[in-house]
Amino acid sequence: MCVEVAFWWAVCWRGLILWAVGLVSVADSLWPCPLRCDCYSEVLMVNCSWRHLASVPEGISGDSQRLDLSHNRLKALGRRQFSGLGQLRELDLSDNILTMIEVEAFLGLQNLLTLRMFRNRLKIITVGVFSGLPSLRLLDISENEILVFLDYTFRELAHLQQMEASENDLVFISQRAFVGLANLQELNIDRCNLTAIPTDALSQLSGLVRLRLKRLGITALPNNSFRRLGRLRELEVSHCPWLESLAGNSLFGLNLTSLTLSHCNLSTFPYAALHHLVYLRYLDLSYNPITSIQGKLLGDLLRLQELHLVGGSLLQVELLAFHGLAYLRLLNISSNQLVTLEEGVFHSVGNLEVLRLDENPLACDCRLLWVMRRRLRLDFDANPPTCNAPIQVQGRSFQDFTESEMPGLFTCRPPRILSRKPQEVRVEEGHTVPLLCKADGDPIPSISWLSPKHTKLSPTGRIRILPDGSLEVRYAQVHDSGTYLCVVSNAAGNDTFPVSLRVRGFPSSGRNRSASYFLDGWSLVTAPTAVNGSSQQTKPYPFDAKTLVIAVTMGFLSFLSSVAICFVFMLFWSQSKGQIKHTATIDFVPRSSGGGGGGGGGAEPSKFTMKLI
Ligand SMILES: *[C@@H]1O[C@H](CO)[C@@H](O)[C@H](O)[C@H]1NC(C)=O
Ligand SMILES: *[C@@H]1O[C@H](CO)[C@@H](O)[C@H](O)[C@H]1NC(C)=O
Ligand SMILES: *[C@@H]1O[C@H](CO)[C@@H](O)[C@H](O)[C@H]1NC(C)=O
Ligand SMILES: *[C@@H]1O[C@H](CO)[C@@H](O)[C@H](O)[C@H]1NC(C)=O
Ligand SMILES: *[C@@H]1O[C@H](CO)[C@@H](O)[C@H](O)[C@H]1NC(C)=O
Ligand SMILES: *[C@@H]1O[C@H](CO)[C@@H](O)[C@H](O)[C@H]1NC(C)=O
Ligand SMILES: *[C@@H]1O[C@H](CO)[C@@H](O)[C@H](O)[C@H]1NC(C)=O
Ligand SMILES: *[C@@H]1O[C@H](CO)[C@@H](O)[C@H](O)[C@H]1NC(C)=O
Ligand SMILES: *[C@@H]1O[C@H](CO)[C@@H](O)[C@H](O)[C@H]1NC(C)=O
Repeated sequence: MCVEVAFWWAVCWRGLILWAVGLVSVADSLWPCPLRCDCYSEVLMVNCSWRHLASVPEGISGDSQRLDLSHNRLKALGRRQFSGLGQLRELDLSDNILTMIEVEAFLGLQNLLTLRMFRNRLKIITVGVFSGLPSLRLLDISENEILVFLDYTFRELAHLQQMEASENDLVFISQRAFVGLANLQELNIDRCNLTAIPTDALSQLSGLVRLRLKRLGITALPNNSFRRLGRLRELEVSHCPWLESLAGNSLFGLNLTSLTLSHCNLSTFPYAALHHLVYLRYLDLSYNPITSIQGKLLGDLLRLQELHLVGGSLLQVELLAFHGLAYLRLLNISSNQLVTLEEGVFHSVGNLEVLRLDENPLACDCRLLWVMRRRLRLDFDANPPTCNAPIQVQGRSFQDFTESEMPGLFTCRPPRILSRKPQEVRVEEGHTVPLLCKADGDPIPSISWLSPKHTKLSPTGRIRILPDGSLEVRYAQVHDSGTYLCVVSNAAGNDTFPVSLRVRGFPSSGRNRSASYFLDGWSLVTAPTAVNGSSQQTKPYPFDAKTLVIAVTMGFLSFLSSVAICFVFMLFWSQSKGQIKHTATIDFVPRSSGGGGGGGGGAEPSKFTMKLI
């Protein structure tokens, strides 16, 4: 009995299930589908791609979730173009010829998550176009011809997480363009005509995590370029051929874990701009003409794990360059001009896992022995380094060498000073004298000099090291006398050699410095006036020869001109004398001699003339 009941139950259920399936298949055939489109009811998708459509087709089912209208000829979208498609999740309008989108075109798509509109001809997006898209997560408007982002364009996209805006003709991003995008996490702006970082606009994006700015026309990154982007973790600024410098505080306020500044025109490593990025793990400065990485300047980047500087102009990575970088596990410096990379560059070479050092003119000597020793443990990323020198191993890959060959290879020869006969140089005060020091060794040793007071001398100043390694003492002074030490060193060791210098002062007391100085004349003028930098401080003269000559010339000239002015005055004076009378005639009436005879006999007035000079 029970068995019978169970059997009938089973039969009933099966019938019920079959009926339900049949109903579904009936519904399937009833799912409305626009002409010329393919509809897939099981995934609720309508595919109208590649159908030469000039307008959005009619009759799309209201429960569609995906609509593909790409590769058509849509020119414009009217108001409420997609009303009734409230269930739509994905809308693809890419590869059309859209030039116009009316305000509220997307109104009603309250569940839309993804909107793709790349490769169209949009020049402007009016405020309100994106109304009614409260759920949108991804917006792709790349490869259009958009010139500006106006204020509040994206205001209603409160849940937008990713925006692709590459390859537009953007010349301006208005200050409030990104207002409302509080949840935007990723923004890509590539190949735009922007000549400045849109700092104010970006500062609205408080939730931004990844920012990619490529192919911008910027020339510098000014201080505080990325204000109020405290959540930003990944920043990429690349392909900016005019970007030559980063201001010291340009990245101020950022707490990045990944920074790429590649394909720009930076010629120095931007130590100052980076030093506060203590959480940085990935740094890429590839394809910048950076020539060296200096010692001990990156210590603040204590969590750095990867450093890429591919295709730069690196000539040198100084000792202790990666001092403090205890977690550095990948160094990618292929395609540079490096001759070597010493073990002393690293904080600890034990943590290094991946090393790309290929495409560098490496000298395979003792400095690279550490790489050689670790060649089986290190990952060369399928590009092991190759030797460029010495000649017998030129072109050979580090992985070709066998253990038995190793003795005799990857060696250095300590430096040796060549002529060791004691040098004592005597010279008269004021003369210029070279102190010679020649050395050989492999690699070619560097030459430095210590003064008698054991301070290091430099290639500038009155006493300076010449490029050939000799020391030049110009205008030797008595107090320059003493023993100079030539120190030659390379990776294999060092060698030293003393040279003593005696400077004889002038015996005659009459001939003092200034006198001889003036006699020497112009030759002295070329002597640099700043002689500090060497240990030998000479008292500067109160004035130099040039000043003296100028002063004398000026004095003489002013004397001449006063004389000339005098003469001119005299000339004028003598000229004007010609216009006045040179004689003065004075009339006078002489007194009558008789008192009474005054009336009748009128006396003639007399005159006399005086000649004036
Ligand atoms: C729609 O169909 C085209 C071919 O007609 C195809 O290339 C495209 O991938 C389809 N779209 C989707 C979303 O599957
Ligand atoms: C943007 O730059 C591209 C290439 O440099 C140029 O062809 C285009 O005309 C520029 N657009 C504007 C609006 O300046
Ligand atoms: C950037 O900030 C640094 C440190 O405050 C300052 O020294 C420098 O002058 C500033 N540079 C510019 C261009 O304002
Ligand atoms: C890069 O900088 C160098 C000088 O530092 C300059 O000569 C060169 O023209 C710059 N390149 C570009 C593309 O601006
Ligand atoms: C900086 O970023 C790191 C890693 O993402 C995080 O652990 C740290 O809390 C951040 N610091 C601040 C001040 O935001
Ligand atoms: C090193 O850089 C080159 C060029 O950017 C890249 O192709 C390669 O994958 C990098 N290697 C590693 C291990 O990151
Ligand atoms: C010379 O070499 C010795 C040992 O090799 C070292 O202690 C010394 O510091 C070196 N001096 C210089 C100036 O490099
Ligand atoms: C030379 O001139 C200096 C001042 O320039 C003076 O101190 C010194 O006594 C003079 N020497 C002689 C011998 O006149
Ligand atoms: C040389 O002197 C000037 C001015 O006195 C000073 O600013 C400069 O730092 C000095 N240079 C060296 C190398 O001592």
